[in-house]
Amino acid sequence: MGAASAQRIVERGYAEVVLLDIVEGLAPGKALDILQSAPVLNAEIRLTGTSDYKDIADSELVIVTAGLFRKPGMTRDELLLANTKIVSGVIANIVKYSPQSIILMVSNPLDAMTYLAVRASRFPRQRVVGMSGVLDSARLSTFVAAELKVSPKDVSAWVLGAHGLNMVVIPRLTTVRGKPLTELLPKETIDRLVERTIHGGREIVDLLKTGSAFYAPSAGIARMAEAIVLDKKEVLPCAACLDGEYGIKDSVIGVPVKLGKKGIAEIIELELSAEEKQALHSSAEGVRELIKTLGV
Ligand code: 2OP
Repeated sequence: MGAASAQRIVERGYAEVVLLDIVEGLAPGKALDILQSAPVLNAEIRLTGTSDYKDIADSELVIVTAGLFRKPGMTRDELLLANTKIVSGVIANIVKYSPQSIILMVSNPLDAMTYLAVRASRFPRQRVVGMSGVLDSARLSTFVAAELKVSPKDVSAWVLGAHGLNMVVIPRLTTVRGKPLTELLPKETIDRLVERTIHGGREIVDLLKTGSAFYAPSAGIARMAEAIVLDKKEVLPCAACLDGEYGIKDSVIGVPVKLGKKGIAEIIELELSAEEKQALHSSAEGVRELIKTLGV
């Protein structure tokens, strides 16, 4: 996922990227391969690969994709212990070499790992954000577009809450050319698309058997990276550590976030019904349960 994200970012040409993996040779090999596409693409690509954290010194943005991914039959939460160890080590190195950076978390279980990154880095919560809502919303948009036979460009979907079984999909907030989904499709169809979205990652894990999705996730990462590095102030669904927003404190879940070069410029509070609010609260509660076992 790291290499795919690096490829998407360097091809846009606005940033210099360092690809890092602790496995000797892996990141330099990937970087070289991507670099050699520059003449064909007629692009200026600035990319290096390394296994030495010194080379990430003074990065503006550090994207953390490190960690194990799921095998068929596993939930993301089952990765908690193994990935806590890996991610803690990564965060310590980010603090050491790029203390002013923004951290973009992608490791699973996403919300708990984002929380771990906030606490372990001791960075202000605005400088740590997680990628999941862009991906989950893109999955819903894809399914809605296919169902209604419209362009995905005409679908605007907002998937909030945790990146897991407690995902909060609010069909009312999903619109097609401005019309809410609830006015376009019967409830049973919407429920089926929502279910497929919630299990969107698992569907791919089950098909691949030895891997997890990375094309759509890397597109989500690149979109967020661009909003941050180019200070676009774009509002995207992102995992953020809440401190009272939506009545939730000390937990991480996906909410609409205005992203810019300082990270989270603003957490947007949508008007939600009591039922929708309740769904967000139980999502945050589920993440809090996981966080408890982290001991941070
Ligand atoms: C997914 O949903 C990898 O968690 C990621 O595919």
